[in-house]
Amino acid sequence: MAKKVKTHSLRHIVAVSNNKGGAGKTSTVLNLASAIARRIEGYRVLVIDCDPQRNLSYFLGWDDRRELEGHPTLYTALCNEHQGLPVYHANNGLYFTPASVNLNGIDAILSLRPNPSKALSEILQRPIDDRTGEGLSTPHSQISTLFDFIFIDTQPAMSRMTYNALYASDGYIIPTELEEASVKGMTNIAVAASKVGADTGRLFIHGILITKKDGKLRSARLYEPQIRNSFRETFTTAVRRSKDITESQALREDVFTSYSGGRAAEDYTALATEYLRKFA
Ligand SMILES: Nc1ncnc2c1ncn2[C@@H]1O[C@H](COP(=O)(O)OP(=O)(O)O)[C@@H](O)[C@H]1O
Ligand SMILES: [Mg+2]
Repeated sequence: MAKKVKTHSLRHIVAVSNNKGGAGKTSTVLNLASAIARRIEGYRVLVIDCDPQRNLSYFLGWDDRRELEGHPTLYTALCNEHQGLPVYHANNGLYFTPASVNLNGIDAILSLRPNPSKALSEILQRPIDDRTGEGLSTPHSQISTLFDFIFIDTQPAMSRMTYNALYASDGYIIPTELEEASVKGMTNIAVAASKVGADTGRLFIHGILITKKDGKLRSARLYEPQIRNSFRETFTTAVRRSKDITESQALREDVFTSYSGGRAAEDYTALATEYLRKFA
């Protein structure tokens, strides 16, 4: 049975990163955050979409037309030094900050700032721009008393934006497929994160997550023990390859909404349990 919480205290801000595309970053932010919000009734989980491809935003019901109509996105907040983080409420219960296609040009804008990698962490210090219609925040409420967890989806590149995500976080998760390119991408993030951590003194690895696992493949049998032996932070839970993930995303839903009894829902529930045991 789900535990209940009434007050909120931010445990962690977690960047989900791997500079290889298709490693399962977006699927993990969506489904791990949803699983955590379901495990503990009343938990507020915020996800921030830093990828100009904005798949996460779409899966949570965002429509680019809303941006054209003047609804703010992460880009709006990054461009305006006084604006808070715009926070919306999705149908599945998650809170989210949508990305914008304009994030494609954000690195050039940020590079003119005195602290180009710290714009997102500065935004997180300000009161939010509450777009939920629920009166979530008062003028004095801090992000740290509004949410219990924040997960940040990043783009598949070591861009300034990705560095901003790492600078704003105190933990990071690296999803990886069991294949050469994804494992290489994982190493790049680990190196970048250790540099950022040396600077902020507060960025720690929360785990490496094996995704799209297909035990029938030779590459899976080759890479899984290699990863587990090299990185003791690898989550015991691996997410198996499952069509539930792609199909639920086609419906713009998390796996619990569309395939609650399926394999992907089972794996992300197990991951949430393992994660909360270590980090709640
Ligand atoms: N466990 C899985 N099983 C099958 N397909 C998956 C799984 N995880 C992700 N996918 C699919 O793989 C593609 C890339 O995943 P995604 O999460 O978008 O990766 P990234 O954000 O790292 O680029 C998407 O089409 C997604 O639906
Ligand atoms: Mg993605």
